[in-house]
Amino acid sequence: MNDQALIDIARTLVGTGKGLLAIDESTMTCDKRFAKLGIPQTVAARRAYRELIISTAGLGEDISGVILYDETIHQDKEDGTSFLESLMDAGIVAGIKVDMGAKALAGHRGEKVTEGLDGLRDRLDNYFLMGARFAKWRAVIAIGNYRPSRGCIEANAHALARYAALCQEAGLVPVVEPEVLMDGDHTLERCSEVTGLSLQIVFEQLRSQGVLLEGMILKPNMVLPGLSCPHQESVDEVAAATMKCLLEVVPAAVPGIAFLSGGQSGELASARLNAMHVEAKTGTSPLPWALTFSFGRAIQQPALGIWGGEESHRGAAQEALRHRAHCNRAALRGEYTVEMERN
Ligand code: 13P
Repeated sequence: MNDQALIDIARTLVGTGKGLLAIDESTMTCDKRFAKLGIPQTVAARRAYRELIISTAGLGEDISGVILYDETIHQDKEDGTSFLESLMDAGIVAGIKVDMGAKALAGHRGEKVTEGLDGLRDRLDNYFLMGARFAKWRAVIAIGNYRPSRGCIEANAHALARYAALCQEAGLVPVVEPEVLMDGDHTLERCSEVTGLSLQIVFEQLRSQGVLLEGMILKPNMVLPGLSCPHQESVDEVAAATMKCLLEVVPAAVPGIAFLSGGQSGELASARLNAMHVEAKTGTSPLPWALTFSFGRAIQQPALGIWGGEESHRGAAQEALRHRAHCNRAALRGEYTVEMERN
């Protein structure tokens, strides 16, 4: 795969005023969410739910790429069309989660490193042949007493960089996701410090592994106070802190930044993304990269609740999904308002 092809895919994903939708929950995570709502935890139910999402009419107007899970990428719609074909018909680029999950990091109590490099080259070649054009790898960094350690950040950054290099070799655009978790009572300043350091080390490793920055996408967390921090900053303060942190460490060569939602409500995630674009519009110089979304829960959550496993709720669930996708696309233009939630 030549560099230009990677650059073109990355631009299609982040440079067209749309965002990404993550529906790549592992079977375990998906089942946990189903269990909470009393939905059967079966292959059939997961397939039906993913079909509901993928077949939402007009989804491609707001969404440029959908991230799938291995089980899902092999599945078909009820009418026999493969999910991959269905996405292509909708003008949506298919992506695939390729990490094997975060596992305990030896010698670092309470910290994790994401695994999945063994055999990755072959898996990536296979996904490319199937039609996927980008991939995702998520690392998790927890904030706590004396955490994260430098060792945890470095191990995760190294794995992310090796994954990214393998992706580009296979012709897939790597989505590089070092997620600093929201759990805890840490302040926004602490999140900013940890996010900034993690990203700095990730980019050192990406460079050292020879990753083409123009042919990748960064998927970071927003800079937020911990969920149980007594002081919760305003939407504008979060937006300003996030932009400041990213402008300091993300090279201009990166074509796009696509945020994860990390457990924020759909409304807050849209409002914060919108505030960043409002701030960017009033700034003195344009942002060096596209700034978009790659949300999972912040787009899917209301739709999943409405569906609840009931075929008769399918239409209403698709409407809810479309609504969140639409709100987030409006946020990319700085045009999202709370009134949109009342319609
Ligand atoms: P959330 O937006 O629910 O955090 O999911 C995004 C994602 O892809 C996590 O890896």
